[in-house]
Amino acid sequence: MTRESYAKINWSLRITGRRADGFHDLETVFQTISLHDTLTFNRGDGLSLTCSDPTIPIDETNLVLRAARAAGAENLAIHIEKRIPAGGGLGGGSSDAAATLIELGKPDPAMALSLGSDVPFFLGGGTAYATGRGEILTPLPPMAGIPLLLVLPPEKVLTRDAFALVTRYSEPLGIDAHRDFANFTNDFEEPVFALLPRLRTLKQRLIDAGAMWAGMSGSGSTLVGAFDSAQARDAVVFDDVRTERCVTI
Ligand code: C5P
Repeated sequence: MTRESYAKINWSLRITGRRADGFHDLETVFQTISLHDTLTFNRGDGLSLTCSDPTIPIDETNLVLRAARAAGAENLAIHIEKRIPAGGGLGGGSSDAAATLIELGKPDPAMALSLGSDVPFFLGGGTAYATGRGEILTPLPPMAGIPLLLVLPPEKVLTRDAFALVTRYSEPLGIDAHRDFANFTNDFEEPVFALLPRLRTLKQRLIDAGAMWAGMSGSGSTLVGAFDSAQARDAVVFDDVRTERCVTI
């Protein structure tokens, strides 16, 4: 059995406060994109995990193994064909975990949240407004088919470290303000760009190249450019940094 697990971007991400449980309250718009990992599930002797990318840990810290255990899997060999870069703010590990819960017949939001703040979103995907840790989800009208150019710098950002850089919190704007590109901003940009100034330059290059919108995804380091047409997007070439062409789904 194979299952595709799609990456996400954040159109917008406001950090609205720090909570007693150590997490932060957010206001964000999640969007699934066509870039994906592929998971293969086969009957196995015990529970095991392999991954095409040797830099991804396949021990008990891997969210796929944790999801499989939470769902009660016992004799299963799982393989991840990895295309979503780790540490890029694209939710690859979270999406893999959600796909595993779905495959095992346990698409349970509470189980998903126990694995990570972004995992509940991936049970449904699409375009969604989220508050809380990111688990209080309201679907928005789909924004499928928008051509994207992802810029994937080699610098990786740990989400935990990015939150630690944040010292000021934003007022929530509410869902209605999040139906318009004009209000799509990311509170992680300022502190992460201060630490990794090249990311600011890469975002500006997307705008200069004709993106109708550009921003960082999640806590970075991926920069996203949204284009009016696939032709406009495909005319843009960055030869000094990895890019991926994909589309919102
Ligand atoms: O939930 P997840 O394990 O993906 O989060 C990784 C880290 O990011 C958490 O340990 C926490 O430090 C931080 N985080 C946060 N507030 C959120 C989501 C994540 O502070 N809403």
